Amino acid sequence: MIYLDHAATASPKAPGVADAITRHLAEIANPGRGGHRWATATERMIDDTRLALARLMHVDDHRRLAFTLNATDALNMAMRGTLDASVTPAGIDTPHVVTTVLEHNSISRPLMDLRDRGQITLTQVGCDDDGILRVEDIVAALQPETTLVAFLHVSNALGTIQPAAAIAGAVAERSDALVLLDASQSIGVLPVDVEALGADFIAFPGHKGLLGPTGTGALYVGPRVIADPGHVVDARIEPWRHGGTGGDSTFPVQPRELPHYLEGGTPNTVGLAGLRAGLEYVLGATVESIHAHEMELIARLLRGLEAIEGVRVIGPRDVDRRIGAVSMVFDGHDPADVGGILDTTFGIAVRPGLHCAPYAHEAMGTFPAGTLRTSVGPFTTDADIDALLDALRRCL
Ligand code: ALA
Repeated sequence: MIYLDHAATASPKAPGVADAITRHLAEIANPGRGGHRWATATERMIDDTRLALARLMHVDDHRRLAFTLNATDALNMAMRGTLDASVTPAGIDTPHVVTTVLEHNSISRPLMDLRDRGQITLTQVGCDDDGILRVEDIVAALQPETTLVAFLHVSNALGTIQPAAAIAGAVAERSDALVLLDASQSIGVLPVDVEALGADFIAFPGHKGLLGPTGTGALYVGPRVIADPGHVVDARIEPWRHGGTGGDSTFPVQPRELPHYLEGGTPNTVGLAGLRAGLEYVLGATVESIHAHEMELIARLLRGLEAIEGVRVIGPRDVDRRIGAVSMVFDGHDPADVGGILDTTFGIAVRPGLHCAPYAHEAMGTFPAGTLRTSVGPFTTDADIDALLDALRRCL
């Protein structure tokens, strides 16, 4: 199999991930609970994983990173936690949320659910013809009741990079609304630096660019949401998952300290052991060189696609506005048929369809059939791209 579906999940994972999981399973224990040496070793491993993540994102206090099951879990934690009536700013009865057409269902579905229940009002702003958000559209959508602006760093359907820092800066200048950034497609591939981006929340999975196992993810919680991670007061987020933390059980509610405030229940220690190995690989290889490698592959792919008749790439041709995912459509052929033939006849894995981002496809005129999305990873080679180009030529 030539695997070109890295935007869905990285495969293979980083070297060392499988070994780290196996080693952890041999002496697995519940972190913190019990206090015996395996429990404390597991706790230390989780702490090391959190510290590695903090190093990657330049987070000054690693407790600001709460582990989650995936990006969807982190996004729900941020949105439901921050739109909870108990933390709605004074004077706002029904919070207003700004989001965009580019979002994955993991942002749009929870928000539409809250809107349909009458708990929020919602504005969904558009994008330009290249699939890129405009700062001025977000600014124009702000209202006095806006409490949250939620959008993605990179479109999973199109691979386009969004002006995240400019949007976060423009919102902060004009409003008290919190900014939630979905970094699902950018973490590990582009710099996701909390200072430079200026978002209040950053949600992401561990199984994509961080090259870790599925079932892992995290939410970064910034100082405007919780001022002091060691002493949670006047938080602008409520925990949406309450439960055991292995710490002080005399407390009737979640402990008022991060990350326990947001992390009830036994964590995915197996996944986090693997994620630590993935993070070590990314930190060693560097995000910059992973990105440069992917851009070379994408430049090769875009050049090759230009020479194939009947293929239209969606979004910009210039590689500096993209990550390693490219969406395309075909004259007279359904992307699902082409994707099926690539798999069964040529052994190439891609993702056709709507990529859980139906409004992005509506905006780009590719709804309902969607596109065929190819996405590369750090271990993809020039030969893989050439094989894809050759297969597309023959298939069409
Ligand atoms: N969100 C993932 C994708 O884009 C699963 O394929």
